[in-house]
Amino acid sequence: MSMNRYLTFALAKGRLANQTLELFEEMGIACEEMRDKNTRKLIFVNEEWKLKFFLAKGPDVPTYVEYGAADIGVAGRDTVLEENRNVYEVLDLGFGKCRMCVCGPEAAGDLLLHHERIRVASKYPNIARDYFYNKKHQTVDIIKLNGSVELGPLVGLSDVIVDIVETGSTLRENGLDVLEEVCGLSARMIVNPVAMQMERERIQELVLGLREKLSRQAARAEARRGV
Ligand code: PRP
Repeated sequence: MSMNRYLTFALAKGRLANQTLELFEEMGIACEEMRDKNTRKLIFVNEEWKLKFFLAKGPDVPTYVEYGAADIGVAGRDTVLEENRNVYEVLDLGFGKCRMCVCGPEAAGDLLLHHERIRVASKYPNIARDYFYNKKHQTVDIIKLNGSVELGPLVGLSDVIVDIVETGSTLRENGLDVLEEVCGLSARMIVNPVAMQMERERIQELVLGLREKLSRQAARAEARRGV
């Protein structure tokens, strides 16, 4: 195994990066300085394991990985699908669970049944297009928004939205419903194809370690729930 080269990770900043780092810490791979809330440093190194971590905006993570600026990335499945980069998806980390859904006022449910040409607002135009054109075979107009997508049907910009639903409270508080589920989402680990060839052993060892850790955690959680 070549330990001369650093393996570089791009992590989607926020909750996903924090949970990923916690997982690494539980495996004995700590990066103390990265957890300092006041730090403005962008790159953190673990010399023992020869690992480098940096925090990036979620949608940029697959870009860093495709170009090889990071060997490995952690981002939500929403981002991985939307960016559709040339990367391998190697692991479902299980956290950050939520759903990608078509949402709108209850009455808009009918518009989804009759192949009508409707307006769909989304922060995820590629996912929305794939769902309507390839899965539902419905021609729609996609309108890209950058956030607060629930406004779409509320102010008459769109008939429905395609957006992430986690607790459902944003929908509830704005009088909107889940009309159809597009897919389930959670944090995914992605790998650069060249790094996968060059550093196969180290990457496989890491993925295996993480997978074991995650399945032990899942078994403990099930036992606690008395399943
Ligand atoms: C996300 C998503 C929904 C909301 C869903 O928005 O786009 O609006 O969270 O969560 P909930 O089901 O628990 O209410 P985010 O907070 O990322 O902000 P944004 O609207 O600016 O995208």
